[in-house]
Amino acid sequence: MDTKLTVDIEAISQVAERIKASTRVVVLTGAGISQESGVPTFRGADGLWQSFRAEDLATPEAFQRDPVLVWQWYDWRRSLIKPLEPNPGHYALVELEKRIPGLTLVTQNVDGLHRAAGSRDPIEMHGTIWRVRCLECKNTFENRTVPITILPKCEACDGLLRPDVVWFGESLNEEILHTIYTYLQKAQVVLIVGTSAMVQPAASFGMVAKRTAGAFVVELNRSRTHQSPLFDISIQGNAGELLPRIVDCIGP
Ligand code: OAD
Repeated sequence: MDTKLTVDIEAISQVAERIKASTRVVVLTGAGISQESGVPTFRGADGLWQSFRAEDLATPEAFQRDPVLVWQWYDWRRSLIKPLEPNPGHYALVELEKRIPGLTLVTQNVDGLHRAAGSRDPIEMHGTIWRVRCLECKNTFENRTVPITILPKCEACDGLLRPDVVWFGESLNEEILHTIYTYLQKAQVVLIVGTSAMVQPAASFGMVAKRTAGAFVVELNRSRTHQSPLFDISIQGNAGELLPRIVDCIGP
């Protein structure tokens, strides 16, 4: 008998039971959920931060210094992501949302794949690469043009546009953060999917829900992380396999 599979099935049915008995569930996703769609993750052997320096490409200072370089990098990422499709992990979360109306989906991802899968209203806490923001008038616009004109200019005021994402050293939108903490402080179950938990504040969400709401916190990740010992259950596997199995186990 395959012991690992047996252990996983037990863990999966335990998670499914917890979710089934809950009305308030928060799901936090990271780059790992999009990995099976072909989106590169950030850390690990094939991660973007192995080949690129975040300081050169994903900070406000980098954009000030060399907006052409930063836009070229974002244009490359947009062209890479544009043809990609959501995978069974994204679709399983859409199904989960139908079964648990009080589910809140929070993602660190900027790839737009949760929306593409049909998730109702994912909270994109790090923004999205499919939106641009004017440095002058601060207006935001949806923009899916690939390749994008470098340097893109605002239709309203001709100011320089930047990707509407959160860069290192920038604060997250306070209203969005407040909303997320409100859900965490009421959560019965938190599912943390495909994140290395290296970037704050998302890295603390599981523990915030545990301390403030006594939430049952589950980690789904291809590998163990530094936070795995802190959670109630940590299941190792691909999000695109684990999430559909959890949803199947919950049933219609
Ligand atoms: P990371 O690249 O740091 O971590 C990805 C995690 O996903 C790792 O723990 C992998 O083990 C796991 N993983 C990979 N493939 C998987 C799969 N198929 N199924 C399940 N797990 C898998 O990405 P994030 O944690 O999302 O921030 O990174 C957080 C933030 O750091 C990003 O939002 C970005 C980055 O710098 C900003 O740009 C502000």
